[in-house]
Amino acid sequence: MFSRATIFVFHLYLSSITEAATLPNDESGSRQFSPRKSTFITTKTLPFIVNGSALPDVNFDIGESFSGLLPIDDTDKELFFWFMPSRNPSSNNEITIWLNGGPGCSSLYGFFREQGPVLWRPGNFAPTANPWTWVNQTNMVWIDQPVGAGFSQGTPNVTSSEEVAIQFLAFWKNLVDLFGLDHRKVFITGESYAGQYILYIAAAMLDQHNEKYFNVSGIMMYDPSFGWYDLAMQPIFIIEAPLVVMIHSSPTALYFHRGPLPLVPGLGPDGKVTSECDIYNEIYLANMELNPCFDIYEIGKLCPKPWDVLESPEYYNGNMPPNFEPYFNRTKVKAAIHAPLDSHWELCTSRPVFTNYTDLSSPSGITGGPLQRVIEATNNVVIRHGTMDMILMVNGSLLTLQNLTWNGVQGFSSPPSKPFIAPKATDRIAGFSGGSRVLGLWVQERGLSFCTVELSGHEVPAYQPSAAFRQLEYLLGRIDNLTIAGDFVEDTWLIEKGRPVDQMHDHPIEDC
Ligand SMILES: *[C@@H]1O[C@H](CO)[C@@H](O)[C@H](O)[C@H]1NC(C)=O
Ligand SMILES: *[C@@H]1O[C@H](CO)[C@@H](O)[C@H](O)[C@H]1NC(C)=O
Ligand SMILES: *[C@@H]1O[C@H](CO)[C@@H](O)[C@H](O)[C@H]1NC(C)=O
Ligand SMILES: *[C@@H]1O[C@H](CO)[C@@H](O)[C@H](O)[C@H]1NC(C)=O
Ligand SMILES: *[C@@H]1O[C@H](CO)[C@@H](O)[C@H](O)[C@H]1NC(C)=O
Ligand SMILES: *[C@@H]1O[C@H](CO)[C@@H](O)[C@H](O)[C@H]1NC(C)=O
Ligand SMILES: *[C@@H]1O[C@H](CO)[C@@H](O)[C@H](O)[C@H]1NC(C)=O
Ligand SMILES: *[C@@H]1O[C@H](CO)[C@@H](O)[C@H](O)[C@H]1NC(C)=O
Ligand SMILES: *[C@@H]1O[C@H](CO)[C@@H](O)[C@H](O)[C@H]1NC(C)=O
Repeated sequence: MFSRATIFVFHLYLSSITEAATLPNDESGSRQFSPRKSTFITTKTLPFIVNGSALPDVNFDIGESFSGLLPIDDTDKELFFWFMPSRNPSSNNEITIWLNGGPGCSSLYGFFREQGPVLWRPGNFAPTANPWTWVNQTNMVWIDQPVGAGFSQGTPNVTSSEEVAIQFLAFWKNLVDLFGLDHRKVFITGESYAGQYILYIAAAMLDQHNEKYFNVSGIMMYDPSFGWYDLAMQPIFIIEAPLVVMIHSSPTALYFHRGPLPLVPGLGPDGKVTSECDIYNEIYLANMELNPCFDIYEIGKLCPKPWDVLESPEYYNGNMPPNFEPYFNRTKVKAAIHAPLDSHWELCTSRPVFTNYTDLSSPSGITGGPLQRVIEATNNVVIRHGTMDMILMVNGSLLTLQNLTWNGVQGFSSPPSKPFIAPKATDRIAGFSGGSRVLGLWVQERGLSFCTVELSGHEVPAYQPSAAFRQLEYLLGRIDNLTIAGDFVEDTWLIEKGRPVDQMHDHPIEDC
């Protein structure tokens, strides 16, 4: 299944010499820089090496990486991973996982659209290097899971997120052993339905009490699914509901409320909206009539809908060239990343990854569930939320949190109100794609941090990459809080190019 490729070692060695040669002089004026030696190349990892200059259609070197399938157990079940070590020395004892949601979406979305080394955005002619890749800060691994999603292999058979976690942990142990990633701090990040996976996986890891493999040190979730699903979708529309009246007329009341919050009317005991109260769909359909390109993942989108190299052609209602194939489903691409050539890669699979399309686990964010446990064990749980997302909404997520008790107290004592400041990029290209200054509001209490991200849809690192880059610094403990002004901590531009940091930024607003 994997092509043997010993010669790649040579290539990687050469490419690191070339990179080292572009570094500025050191203090002694000598141009002797030791090329970074990969600590990950062993006989066991050779079959997984990706030739960073040979990714089809990508005309630059993406750097050192490894990808392929690893088993869960001795059956046909395997998960697909793509691992990229960081060049940042502060990351030596870390490993950060990224998971997309769905259920059933491939985490290669994150790799190609959010925090990976390559961006191929909708409508773009060709891929470009991602100046905001999280690999600049830490060691990243993108994983297609559960079985059934992306390039993962085998027959899906899970019925709950607890079972997803069992399979993930078995795979994770194999990955850690393969690359020698033991005794590292494990950070788990992701978005959307991964809010369910991340918390069940993190809780299961913590339950192992095994710091060799499972030293969970924090998690970060974007626009997560973690409460009663329809609660996060419906409440802003049900304007007469007592709970919502309370939020709008007296937000403070919500922040002093004690005891379980009542469900909004129209929701059954399972948290699902009854069909006669389904205001969400009414609003969605009305929006679609006004704007046929309306997108619940980013409510600002207008026509035309740009083509997307990751989407299947059916998504375009006949508006794609006849032989169009999604990037990761192309044979050359599969061969380059050690994915099975006969696999059928879809951005999000329509086949069930949970038996009968049903995750029998409770929402991860209710009292007594894994969110509470993970906060109490790590005191480093980070939730971020785009304000232009309509599939999961900021206030719905805050309602779920106001109903949760963690570290002995219910909810936050105030709404998110401290300014979240993203520094201005010192690199011109990065500056064109990442916003700066006040990009949201945050609150942090008892180990849980919540922050809104303005001008962002559902996939925050895709819409506001500079915000996500700063928030990763927070998760990893490089900065104390999100109000700190000043440059990015790992300002690789400075390190790489040896030029002074642009001083034209971070004026306090009062200066004007
Ligand atoms: C990696 O790919 C590049 C571009 O296709 C090629 O020139 C180079 O020989 C490859 N390196 C190895 C070690 O195969
Ligand atoms: C799913 O399959 C695995 C074997 O790959 C088995 O160990 C597990 O018990 C199965 N789970 C369920 C819920 O059937
Ligand atoms: C586990 O992570 C914590 C920080 O979250 C660190 O203090 C501790 O040393 C780590 N343990 C091991 C065995 O690496
Ligand atoms: C969310 O709730 C706050 C009060 O806590 C309110 O000011 C704001 O308008 C609400 N946002 C939306 C989009 O409904
Ligand atoms: C609040 O939590 C309780 C259980 O602790 C649950 O019964 C109730 O439905 C929840 N309310 C909301 C608004 O989520
Ligand atoms: C994806 O690849 C599989 C295997 O080659 C093929 O059967 C399928 O038709 C492809 N899907 C698309 C949308 O091109
Ligand atoms: C899935 O659905 C079938 C048919 O309705 C049912 O027999 C089976 O028990 C269901 N399985 C689970 C795990 O809910
Ligand atoms: C943020 O952290 C800095 C120290 O790094 C501290 O001076 C400042 O008060 C903190 N701000 C908030 C709002 O917590
Ligand atoms: C990440 O590193 C690359 C290569 O060193 C650099 O071009 C890019 O600007 C860096 N981005 C950030 C945000 O540091």
